[in-house]
Amino acid sequence: MIGKARFITFEGGEGAGKSTQIRLLADWLRKQGATVCLTREPGGSPGAELIRDLLLKGDVDRWLPISEALMLAAARADHVERTIRPALSRGEWVLCDRFYDSSIAYQGAGRGVGVERVKEIQTIAFGKMQPDLTFILDLPVEVGLSRALEREGAKSDMEDRFERMDRKFHESLRQAFLGIAKQEPVRCILLDADKDIDSLQGEILHALEHRYLKS
Ligand code: TYD
Repeated sequence: MIGKARFITFEGGEGAGKSTQIRLLADWLRKQGATVCLTREPGGSPGAELIRDLLLKGDVDRWLPISEALMLAAARADHVERTIRPALSRGEWVLCDRFYDSSIAYQGAGRGVGVERVKEIQTIAFGKMQPDLTFILDLPVEVGLSRALEREGAKSDMEDRFERMDRKFHESLRQAFLGIAKQEPVRCILLDADKDIDSLQGEILHALEHRYLKS
């Protein structure tokens, strides 16, 4: 039985398979009769999609880390007010491909802005807005980056600025996500993403049913 609508986010480094898993989960929830708002970050509202382009395109050093953190917070504030809160108040399940934790990992840890500073910026931008549940898909860095490159190879010139950052950057992201999962074990479910699509989706559905869909 489908329960009350929830706000669920998917997080992880590059090539972890978030987008595929989130689409499969949306299909499954719709089959259960839920209305689903499938969204993503950076982006998810018209204004935030414009900021996404600024953030993902161009040279690796196009922006200062602090500018990135501020733009992401600006985009997220718009996305929260104009897409996420309205969908939740209509009773829709909101599934979001990346959210707050990506800024903690990418800007706070990876880009060196500092976790506390990133948290402060986000609080100024939109107050407190926590997902009900976050799936963190974990993968060794080299596996994730080679998956991401294969994906990009198929689409040509899709690689974003962050994918081009160095190995050390990606390793620090992984550690940051593992740290978040450890600090917030109620909100976060850590999953080993080094497996096939169906097995991983099976684990996601199992966790969701266990948490919310018991009749
Ligand atoms: P996207 O194409 O959605 O990549 P992925 O498939 O890896 O999710 O691009 C999002 C990129 O933006 C990704 O490299 C992570 C980065 N990002 C941040 O650096 N900080 C953030 O807060 C968010 C939401 C994303």
